[in-house]
Amino acid sequence: MSDDYRQLLDATIQHLDGLKSRGIRHVAVAPETLRALALPPKFPTANFPSPISKAPVAPVAQTEPVLSMPPKKSVAPVVAPKIVASIPQVEITSASPAKAAAFTALRERALTCVKCPHLAASRTTVVFGVGSIDAQLMFVGEAPGADEDEQGEPFVGRAGQLLTKIIQATGLSRADVYIANILKCRPDTPGQSAGNRPPTPEERATCLPYLQEQIDLIQPKAIVALGATAVDGLLGKTLGITKLRGNWQTYRGIPLMPTYHPAYLLRNQSLSEKRKVWEDILKVMEKLEMPISPKQRNFFLPA
Ligand code: URA
Repeated sequence: MSDDYRQLLDATIQHLDGLKSRGIRHVAVAPETLRALALPPKFPTANFPSPISKAPVAPVAQTEPVLSMPPKKSVAPVVAPKIVASIPQVEITSASPAKAAAFTALRERALTCVKCPHLAASRTTVVFGVGSIDAQLMFVGEAPGADEDEQGEPFVGRAGQLLTKIIQATGLSRADVYIANILKCRPDTPGQSAGNRPPTPEERATCLPYLQEQIDLIQPKAIVALGATAVDGLLGKTLGITKLRGNWQTYRGIPLMPTYHPAYLLRNQSLSEKRKVWEDILKVMEKLEMPISPKQRNFFLPA
């Protein structure tokens, strides 16, 4: 084994050891990386001069992936964290193949992200986003909850079902729009088996670049920011959702409509609050020049 290779192996083991000591128990590895790791290492022949014989050396059978090789004696034995080759493969399509490729690469980066070690350790999945990357309309929420963490898709729990109904009331489907969150991992709640918490400012700042890249690639014609965390996260200011909702804002040149989070509507079931959200959505439909029927105009008005 070459010195270079040994050093690389030691560095990898130390890195994994460091992650493990910070409580990280899983390391997501892209399938192609795993395949490459399972191959015998390629040593440049120049590193293996054979002063004894020039006869070809039979390749050493390598049955185990490189990461399971025993560490050097000088390195304390470590148990490498379980490696999960679990980037669920989805086909991302677009009218532009370059855009689809860039989005796929972004998704793979996000799905293997460990920038927030506590969230990487506690999450079941990274909830990247769902829908069409050629969508004209994008919805941005706060962070995945338990259902989303479980299923790897944003807005699939109770609040998500309400959001789906709102989208369908416009005449669109979830597949026609793009749905994402400020935070891609479920905020952990140590010591609690259930419950949610809003993302911390640090978590938001760490994760935001992924959402920014998603928006930069999708280039929607309008964004609906659902709730205070989404509005504050995207606009970088805290003005209060009650004041901002219904009033067009701009995110990097894209019209952004702040509105209440569907979870708020689940807590406050009054017709007047539903109507407020619906009026915000009507403004979005007008901006996108979507057809609006008289029936749609009158949703949630008192009889
Ligand atoms: N609430 C959010 O803000 N996002 C989700 O994905 C689910 C619930």
